[in-house]
Parts: sequence; structure tokens; C-alpha cells
Amino acid sequence: MQRKPYVAGNWKMWGTRAQTRAYCPRLLELLPPPPQRRADVALCVPFTALDVCLEAVRGGDVRVLAQNMHQAPEGAHTGEISAPMLTELGVHGVVLGHSERRRDHCETDRALREKLPVALAAGLEPILCVGETEEEREQGETERRLRQQVWEALEDVADERLADVVIAYEPVWAIGTGRTATPEQAQEAIAFIRALVADRSREAAARVRILYGGSVKPENAAEILAQPDVDGALVGGASLDPESFAQIVAAAP
Ligand code: G3H
Repeated sequence: MQRKPYVAGNWKMWGTRAQTRAYCPRLLELLPPPPQRRADVALCVPFTALDVCLEAVRGGDVRVLAQNMHQAPEGAHTGEISAPMLTELGVHGVVLGHSERRRDHCETDRALREKLPVALAAGLEPILCVGETEEEREQGETERRLRQQVWEALEDVADERLADVVIAYEPVWAIGTGRTATPEQAQEAIAFIRALVADRSREAAARVRILYGGSVKPENAAEILAQPDVDGALVGGASLDPESFAQIVAAAP
């Protein structure tokens, strides 16, 4: 099945409102017009920049996503943001389970299991991040860890909604380190994740888009994106520069 490539820039904790206003028009200048674009393009920006980003990319066919969301619709959760708050702004989706949130904010597979159906029911496209640590890879635990993360997070997503989730395979050891997984390592892990989805639904596995993330740069993007199961990239550091990000988008097959 032909899956349209998807390239998402995750700004993490970068992007004041002023930076967002400067960045977005420049990116739109650099991207080919939407009909000529081979990839869907998204920006995952801080909560405080979401409205500015939405306004600045209006008409440019760039998706705007948040970087986290709480599973409850409202309540006593100081510092959190709910799905209805995001949909009210008009954002397209939300990144869930990024390894930095798992590491720094106690994000668990259990919480993700609750968050995914909530996001989908609210009409938000979730990008579910999974990936093993360096220690897990060295101990031959990569597949076990991916199985645990994928199965638990997707457990309460109905089979017919599985392909509405975007999955990002991000080996923790490759994030922000400059140590990109080899194209073969990315392909192998992503094919394994697709097989996990196929255990639930073969049809969904053929349609679900699975991205690679971890030190993707203009220099290595084409080779990674050319792998048959790699449907795109979740780009951190290199997405902060519109020129580099546009080059990565252009590298999509
Ligand atoms: O969400 C993006 C990933 O964490 C990758 O970040 O491209 O800076 O390694 P990076």
C-alpha cells in the first residue's frame, strides 16, 4: 500500500511567539506549494506558540500539533492541558509518549493507554513515540520493549482506528546525540512495529504511518526515508532551522 510520507518537526522547548512568527513564513517560502509536496508536513510546537503557529501557517497545508495532553477532560491537574483545550484552538494533533516526557515527567505506558483513545475521540491525530534505551538495545531487549510500548498504548484503541495513530520509532540513544540509527536499524525496528500492529489488524498495519526519529538531518534523511517501512521522520534539532527542515521534507521519496 502507498502511504504518503509524513515529516514532523518537534520543536520541543523552543519557540517563543516571536520566534514562531519569524519561522513559519520562512518555512512556507521554502516548501513546495502543497499540490507539489510529496510529504505531509507538521510542526509540533509549545502550547504557548500554538495559536501563533496556526495563524502563521494558515493556508500553507502545515499541520500544527501540541507536544502533550492530559487524559482527563478537565479537573485538578495543575499545569496540564486537555484534549478539549487543544481542539478549541484548532490544532491537528498531539505528540504522546515522547521519551523526554517518559524520562522527565513519569509518562507511563499505562497513561498512554488512556490518552490515545481520548485524543482520537477528540479528533486529534496522535503521534505515539516509542523506542528503546541504549541499555535495552545492548541487552537484546529492543523488541520486548517495543512490544510492551506499542501493545499497551494501543490496547484501548479500536482496530478500525489503529491507522489513525501515527507511530514514531525513536531509539532513545539516537535522540539529540548525533548518533542516528542506521537505515537498516530503522527499517528493522519499524518493520517489527508494523508487524505488531498487524497482530491486531493487517489492514491497519498496511495503512499506519510509522516515522523514524533520532538525529535526522538533511545529510541522512534521504537514505532513512527511502527504507520501505519508514514513512517519514520526527525531527527535533534540525527542525529548528527552516532551511534544514525544508531540505528534510524535500528528501521524502
Ligand atoms: O522528537 C524528535 C526526536 O526526539 C528527535 O530529536 O532530531 O534532535 O535527535 P533529534
